Formats: sequence, C-alpha cells, structure tokens
Amino acid sequence: MHMHKYEKIWLFFGIGSLFLFLAVLGVGAFAQGTQPPSCLVTIDPEKVDETPPFNQPGLVKKGDNEYELNMISTAFAYIPNEVEIPKGAKVTINVTTKDVIHGFQIAGTNVNMMVEPGYVSSYTQTFDKVGEYVILCNEYCGAGHHLMTAKVKVVEQ
Ligand code: CUA
Repeated sequence: MHMHKYEKIWLFFGIGSLFLFLAVLGVGAFAQGTQPPSCLVTIDPEKVDETPPFNQPGLVKKGDNEYELNMISTAFAYIPNEVEIPKGAKVTINVTTKDVIHGFQIAGTNVNMMVEPGYVSSYTQTFDKVGEYVILCNEYCGAGHHLMTAKVKVVEQ
C-alpha cells in the first residue's frame, strides 16, 4: 500500500500527540499526585439542614487566620447569601446541595466547583485581595439558574 508522505507525517503527528497527552496525564496523576476535587465526603441531601456543619452555615474560625466556610446551594440561592472574610485568611470552603446539581464559582479566584446532591465539595483558598467577589452557579439548574448568586466580601482585618 502506498502512503503519501504528508499522510505519514500527519499520522505520526496525530499518534505522537496522543501519546504525548497520555504521558502528560500520567505524570500529572501518578508523579505529581494531581487529582480531581474530592467527592469523598457524603451527606444525606434530604437532611442537609440538620447535618453539621451545614446546620449552621457560614464562616467558622478554625485557627490563626484559618477558617472554614460552609455553604448550602439550593434552587436558586446560596446560604448564606453574603460572607465577610478577613484579608489574608486561608479558607476551606465546603459546599453541598439540597436538590439538584449546582455550580460554585467565585469569580476572579481559582474556586470553581461542581456541587452534587449527596456529596460535599471542598476547596481551600487564601483571600489576599480586598474586594467584593461574586459567587455564581455555572451548572444549569433550572428556571432561576441565572439568578443564583451570592457575595464574598474580603475586608481589612
Ligand atoms: Cu444553581 Cu445553576
């Protein structure tokens, strides 16, 4: 079978990039320990309001400049709707949902999680810049999806 030279180059390029991507993925996962965000913590989605720490959602001080922020997503809001965080605080954010899948993105930061019923999604973020940040839902969750927002205020301590 005769193969054109360019066809060979493209085949080599295509198969080569496949192996290159697999290698990047492999090094990331096995050598550097990169993992998807944990979905290991489970919760009964019907009992979110009674389950600690979500029975008292909000910011909790855990240590020197360390905080935990526990938030609930529900169609179509976040509880609490506004959070004040002292500048420089290292905050572990835990979010869960009472109903359907929601998103949890804090615009202008690296925080961007999917929130699934039955699970607690967590991410740790240090807030170094004073300002107001919008929390928004980026998973389509129903008629009020576009209204589903909350606010983080990072303030001087
Ligand atoms: Cu909640 Cu979209």
